[in-house]
Amino acid sequence: MTLRYINHFNHLLDDLEQHSLKRTLKICDSASAPIMTIDGQAMLTFCSNDYLGLANHPELAKAISEGLLLFGSGSGASHMISGHHRPHDDLEKALAKTQASFIPEVRALFFSTGYMANLAAITAITSSLGSNQVMSIYSEELNHASLIDGVRLASKQNQANVQVFPHQDLQALEQLLAKDTNEFKLIVTDGVFSMDGDLAQVTALLKLAHQYDALILVDDAHGFGVLGQHGFGILEHAGIQNTNEAAARIIYIGTLGKAAGISGAFVAGHKTLVEWILQKGRPYIYTTASPPAIAHGLLKSLELISDDSYRTSLNHNIQYWKKTLRLKKWGLMPSDTAIQPIMIGRTEDALQVAQQLYKKNIWVPAIRPPTVPANTARLRITFSANHTTEQIDQLIHALMEIEDGL
Ligand SMILES: Cc1ncc(COP(=O)(O)O)c(C=O)c1O
Repeated sequence: MTLRYINHFNHLLDDLEQHSLKRTLKICDSASAPIMTIDGQAMLTFCSNDYLGLANHPELAKAISEGLLLFGSGSGASHMISGHHRPHDDLEKALAKTQASFIPEVRALFFSTGYMANLAAITAITSSLGSNQVMSIYSEELNHASLIDGVRLASKQNQANVQVFPHQDLQALEQLLAKDTNEFKLIVTDGVFSMDGDLAQVTALLKLAHQYDALILVDDAHGFGVLGQHGFGILEHAGIQNTNEAAARIIYIGTLGKAAGISGAFVAGHKTLVEWILQKGRPYIYTTASPPAIAHGLLKSLELISDDSYRTSLNHNIQYWKKTLRLKKWGLMPSDTAIQPIMIGRTEDALQVAQQLYKKNIWVPAIRPPTVPANTARLRITFSANHTTEQIDQLIHALMEIEDGL
């Protein structure tokens, strides 16, 4: 018996470890909340995307349990076969309503995860082209991995010519668009940048899309539930109107495992675009539909999201943190959202700070390459509506103490 392959991978894993790039799993013995039990120890956490504190909300657990009693534990099949249950359909209609003021003739399609929604939407759109055509894709530099993978897949299928434009640099994007004589163009961007917390300039991007006759896909994984008066996300926050000439160009992705507190995602757009994604999105077609009980729970989650008291508490926490924290060496990144990263720089340094916080029973993840560019390792601090000001003070004191000691 040869262990050649095992040795090959062991060698690579050792290499990751030596470069401080080997990741490890931590086991959580309690529900998502500001205080969690990790390996038997109570920890104060600032790392989840449970921005509204709904992931352990009793109303959601109750709604999922009711869904389980009504529809059983599994969907039994893919959506196109017999897996598309009534709660899936009700949820899609409710999700479409959340975007109806911003996108004309909107329809929504529910997915098991945001990763799959992004892959499906991008590859379905590019698969609409004939064998002698390609889509010019303009991809934001700091897009999430699932958008990058969708774009790569489209490009490997020879259906896309990809150009990455620098973060927030719409002048550079315009220069690229102005030179492009291709008939088919797609701009792809995060709504809230997941490792930085800043917002895409949606209004200006939509204007460019219109001027240069492009489609625009906005992945609002960290905005849905959080941004806008009703929590409908970045299009609401930016004041986009469904009467805007450009609004039918939008493909909006919202995810439901972050602020919505459960799991899943949706694509919303003009009904024709969404019908095409349903027909051709392989990650939609060739997978088992998620349990109907999840969709049943998500309908309740949409009700809770419409109550702005969760957003008010979250925004209070963000403002309190920004006005109270005083750092000497490290910089707080420019963000008004629940994602409040502190830039450290070297991977080893970011890991060291995260470890020191951990010793003080505070859990903040260090984010390092390849998730972020080289030399931009950071602490990714995230807030929830459920954090108290005392808990935020505890984090601030610990950070200031560690910074002084380094
Ligand atoms: C910007 C962004 N898009 C998409 C996803 C993927 O969503 P999901 O976790 O539902 O697969 C994430 C995070 O997980 C994300 O941060």
